[in-house]
Amino acid sequence: MNPLPKQLEELFYSHINTNLSFRKADMKDAAWLLSLRNDPETRIHSLSQQEIDPEMHRQWLKNTLNNPSRILLIASMQQEDVASFRLDQKADGSIELSWTVAPKLRGKGIGSLLLSTVGAILPNHLELCACVLQGNPASLKLAQKAGLSLHRQEGKLIWLKREPSPFSTDA
Ligand SMILES: CC(C)(COP(=O)(O)OP(=O)(O)OC[C@H]1O[C@@H](n2cnc3c(N)ncnc32)[C@H](O)[C@@H]1OP(=O)(O)O)[C@@H](O)C(=O)NCCC(=O)NCCS
Repeated sequence: MNPLPKQLEELFYSHINTNLSFRKADMKDAAWLLSLRNDPETRIHSLSQQEIDPEMHRQWLKNTLNNPSRILLIASMQQEDVASFRLDQKADGSIELSWTVAPKLRGKGIGSLLLSTVGAILPNHLELCACVLQGNPASLKLAQKAGLSLHRQEGKLIWLKREPSPFSTDA
């Protein structure tokens, strides 16, 4: 798999236009990320719904941090970590986006701010996609805030896509 361009990560770190800031996840975030992953509502909306054990999660995080085709970011507001956000380079050249808002902060517009910010940060020439499980209307709305629209449904999986713009002026 091709690596994600290093400049892409930098676009997130240098972003200063909203109350959100981004940093790269590291091993110190393992417990917080696991609490997001094992939250019952997160699991309902995930492809693999079983609870993850801490050692398996640490191994997953270690592999993720060493994977050049994946970027795992933590979004914060006023020094508080509010959401995790992931970019994955896919074999077809598109970049898959996925997100989770911290359970106690849901329903307050943070997901909306996150995805509209991400949509503005990611250059128009990139093809973006996201996969949302049927029954997750909030995430369908969020994907649309980043400029993605419904593309296809495969069973319970709904794929959304943002086509690269032919009029892109960004690098
Ligand atoms: C889905 C999730 C990211 C939403 O984040 P959030 O911060 O709670 O979302 P917001 O408060 O910004 O709401 C987003 C939109 O969804 C709507 N919404 C929220 N919950 C909803 C629900 N249960 N049903 C329908 N719409 C809902 C909101 O009204 C808002 O719409 P609007 O912009 O038209 O007002 C968050 O609930 C979460 O992390 N869930 C578990 C993990 C998950 O589903 N991840 C996504 C996998 S693809």
